[in-house]
Amino acid sequence: MSTQERALVIGSSGQIGVELMLALGERLGTENVIGADIRPSEQEELKPYTLEMLNVLHMEQLETIVDRHGITTVYNLAAMLSATAEKYPEKAWDLNMVGLFNVLDLAKAGKIKKVFWPSSIAVFGLTTPKTNTPQTTVCEPNTVYGISKLAGERWCAYYYENYGVDVRSIRYPGLIGYRSAPGGGTTDYAVEIFHEALEHGRYTSFLGEETRLPMMYIEEAIRATIQLMEAPPAAITVRSSYNVSGVDFTPVELADGIRRFLGEFELECTPDFRQKIADTWPDSIDDTVARHDWGWQSRVNLDSLVETMIEGVRKKKVSSETL
Ligand code: SER
Repeated sequence: MSTQERALVIGSSGQIGVELMLALGERLGTENVIGADIRPSEQEELKPYTLEMLNVLHMEQLETIVDRHGITTVYNLAAMLSATAEKYPEKAWDLNMVGLFNVLDLAKAGKIKKVFWPSSIAVFGLTTPKTNTPQTTVCEPNTVYGISKLAGERWCAYYYENYGVDVRSIRYPGLIGYRSAPGGGTTDYAVEIFHEALEHGRYTSFLGEETRLPMMYIEEAIRATIQLMEAPPAAITVRSSYNVSGVDFTPVELADGIRRFLGEFELECTPDFRQKIADTWPDSIDDTVARHDWGWQSRVNLDSLVETMIEGVRKKKVSSETL
């Protein structure tokens, strides 16, 4: 039997999906990475890949794709993020949970060998220690999204302990990248700000000036994901989800960083309903366990993140204008 790894990325048109497809394609070869999404990708970079239409809630559709392509590893990124989930609680619960169960059950049945499923800093809540939040601590999330992620984490651990499913997970902080846009998250301001800075030289943040949140440059999140997925099973001591840390900043600190790079930039803060969500989340994360178990180490600071984002958004703007 072939031992070639064949990966399926569910949610391949999304913010993380696009980047993960490209990174996996480089490692495994584009022919061994399949994307699936409910909406087709408009991403130029994904042209060399096989992309399937999939509603992750439909088990038969999922199973057919897994069989058709001889998939060994599934990355299930399909989810409704925190801000949108507050508007559609039942739909969010369904998508976030049923999608996970479908993938875990395929692994339980022996159809796939490995699963990645992202959790989030949203599993924490008002009763969690806010600074340097530990791996194991009080988790009383106050949002639908956070509740679904916490339940998902426990189900991942349960499937590992009771059925031997090799499922691995990371609690992503707010992710910042320029290749693909986020949608419906509370941390999205930290992506929008770069586009507005280059377009208009100013930005109105929907989070308050002093709202500090854990964030990460998206390529670091992808590097962490691949590192975790390639770690030997014996090294993995957490089968719920790992804390990982990148950078943390407030809108004011991010604006200062942009000013250091661009010169002129104006920030205004007009908090909306997302402020209430952000207020329940930690402001920084302790990732000692991930460092110890599989060697996680962040390499990006605020200034290098700002520089990469501004250059990336600029390049993307130029190439879309010359199309
Ligand atoms: N970025 C996500 C959100 O804001 C957190 O996992 O919903």
